[in-house]
Amino acid sequence: MSDSTCQACRPSSIGKKVVMAITGLVLAGFVLGHMSGNLLMFKGPAAIDAYAAWLHANPALVWTARLVLLVSTAAHIWAGVTLTLENRAARDGGPSVEATRRASLGSRTMPYTGLVLLAFIVFHLLHYTFQAAALGGRKFDSVYAMVVAGFTSVPVSAFYIVSMLLLCLHLGHGFSSLFQTLGLRNERWRNRLDRLALAYAWIVALGFVSIPLAVLTGCLK
Ligand code: HEM
Repeated sequence: MSDSTCQACRPSSIGKKVVMAITGLVLAGFVLGHMSGNLLMFKGPAAIDAYAAWLHANPALVWTARLVLLVSTAAHIWAGVTLTLENRAARDGGPSVEATRRASLGSRTMPYTGLVLLAFIVFHLLHYTFQAAALGGRKFDSVYAMVVAGFTSVPVSAFYIVSMLLLCLHLGHGFSSLFQTLGLRNERWRNRLDRLALAYAWIVALGFVSIPLAVLTGCLK
């Protein structure tokens, strides 16, 4: 395919892919950090509540992180939506059966897993940051007590677990394609980087899933 007909090779598309890669890296770093902090739930109420109190006592750190997250999320969604629409328009007769068959499940479902994750984040902020949903109108001073109360609801825990598995699918493909965009994935490293991306995605997803599962099974109460 020549450069003039290759949609993904246009300078504006390459720029958007770089935006997706860099913001994706920021968001992937955040989920690993957030998941690691959440694992303090297993050390007990004192540990996670002290961590939350330390965060709230450092407003400059928290607000810088929030700003970076907000800008990264908005840019990631903008680049993702416009690239998807441009690619669809460029395929004018519909997807080639061969190209669709060769693409992995993660790659084919990126726009859909991305949309579910966006819905998850909106619900999650209402749930635990604003304590305005699915907590029976109660307000908590303790993060430990709030998380346990939140996950005693089976539908809420199920929504978190399904969302985390979709996060795994999204991260697994996103991470390996960001290596490609940043020019790091040559033939020699391709398989190793793909395995690294998959391992990262599973570690993050299973770390998050362990918390609602532990509450549902009575290990955290
Ligand atoms: C089992 C899974 C999770 C648990 C138990 C959990 C727990 C929490 C809690 C307790 C807070 C409020 C912290 C506070 O204000 O003190 C919070 C905030 C937040 N969480 Fe999660 N989280 C989970 C998964 C996720 C995932 C997968 C994402 C992103 C895809 C995410 C993104 C956020 C964001 C953006 C905030 C707001 C941070 C802020 O601005 O204060 N969380 N989470």
